[in-house]
Amino acid sequence: MNILEIIAKKRDNKTLSKEEIDFFIEQYCNGNITDYQAAALIMAIYINGMNEEETTNLTMSMAHSGEMLDLSVFGKNVVDKHSTGGVGDKITLILMPIIASLGIPVAKMSGRGLGFTGGTIDKLESIPGYNTSVEIDEFIQNVKNIGISVIGQTMNLAPADKKIYALRDTIACTDSIPLIASSIMSKKIAAGANKIILDVTCGSGAFMQNKEDAVKLSETMNKIGKLSNRETICVITNMDEPLGYAVGNNIEVIEAIKALKGDMPEDVKEVILELGAYMIKLAGLGDNIEENKNKILEKIENKEAYQKLIQLVENQGGDISYIENTEKFPKAKFKIPVISDKDGFVESLNARKVGEISGALGAGRLRKEDKIDQSVGVMLCKKISDRVEVGETLAYVYANNEELGNKASKNLKETYKIANNVVPKPKMILDIVK
Ligand code: URA
Repeated sequence: MNILEIIAKKRDNKTLSKEEIDFFIEQYCNGNITDYQAAALIMAIYINGMNEEETTNLTMSMAHSGEMLDLSVFGKNVVDKHSTGGVGDKITLILMPIIASLGIPVAKMSGRGLGFTGGTIDKLESIPGYNTSVEIDEFIQNVKNIGISVIGQTMNLAPADKKIYALRDTIACTDSIPLIASSIMSKKIAAGANKIILDVTCGSGAFMQNKEDAVKLSETMNKIGKLSNRETICVITNMDEPLGYAVGNNIEVIEAIKALKGDMPEDVKEVILELGAYMIKLAGLGDNIEENKNKILEKIENKEAYQKLIQLVENQGGDISYIENTEKFPKAKFKIPVISDKDGFVESLNARKVGEISGALGAGRLRKEDKIDQSVGVMLCKKISDRVEVGETLAYVYANNEELGNKASKNLKETYKIANNVVPKPKMILDIVK
């Protein structure tokens, strides 16, 4: 078997065998297949797709490329959560402390930004001292001690995904159903949970641009879940405009902290309640979704979820004075307002464009070795359906370079579409696929 034959087979739209997929994953991980050969194969998969069997084989091969965690010490229902990615998506930062405060163990491995989407780990690293790369033993011990640990994919868990994920980001191969499904499910399977909730984002700021594709991705992941004995529920959520108001890194962390203190944007709250309620159900702590939502609201109200965040940050070496006083986070040098020159109602605010604008300011990376600028990004003031008057501020651009900031401000203004008529608030939960 050799990699040239495998690339040629997929290039010619033929089906890869389990042996060929295993060969590719093994040899790519141990360095015998180069990045350019892997890039050629990934591009061929992107263009020609994979059938269900190939996607499952790819997932299992990636899951077994490193260690497989056993979390059964935490009970018979161990729940995990993952998002297919979005813009302004700070759900993990808010939801995981809530879930842990309900007594459900949280052992969460999160990712970095991919394409125009942000990543939880890049955001968490804006908290000084927070260590996202801990060893497996310490990760498990953290969960035993305080009920929660959130770390990056730095351990030897699904290393094949880590390599392929970074590669896809640099060769325009992010929005592919077999590649997303295998990336997410391999990590989740290796990370040891047996109940998985998936936030499948849908819209301009997501890899799945329409509901049909989001359902297809959900069904693919559910099927892989079933074949690997993991109960999986997909919640399809709206990502046509950014989630919440902040898009960047430390500004999203600040928004998440405020949310746990009780000041949560409505769209974020809708997603938190739905995902959280299904997580509680999967954990075996209640089948009634509405009652579960109330349990979550109570944990926010009595500040137990906020206290859990403090515990999490402290336990992973982070400086909690930043959580207690968010004014301490470094601010960008320039805060440039984006002013409306129209009266009306915000009709659309393309989330992908906002993600790209934020990325161009330095909040994301173009190459895998690029450094993130933690303080830059976009703070929205107006969202879809909001009333706007001439001269009002639509958003602020946070920049450390004035020229880039002015360019971002101009682009952001063009991204806001203002209508004369009233525009309804977007529905956040589009479907539940079980
Ligand atoms: N999140 C992942 O972990 N992988 C993807 O491919 C997309 C989103």
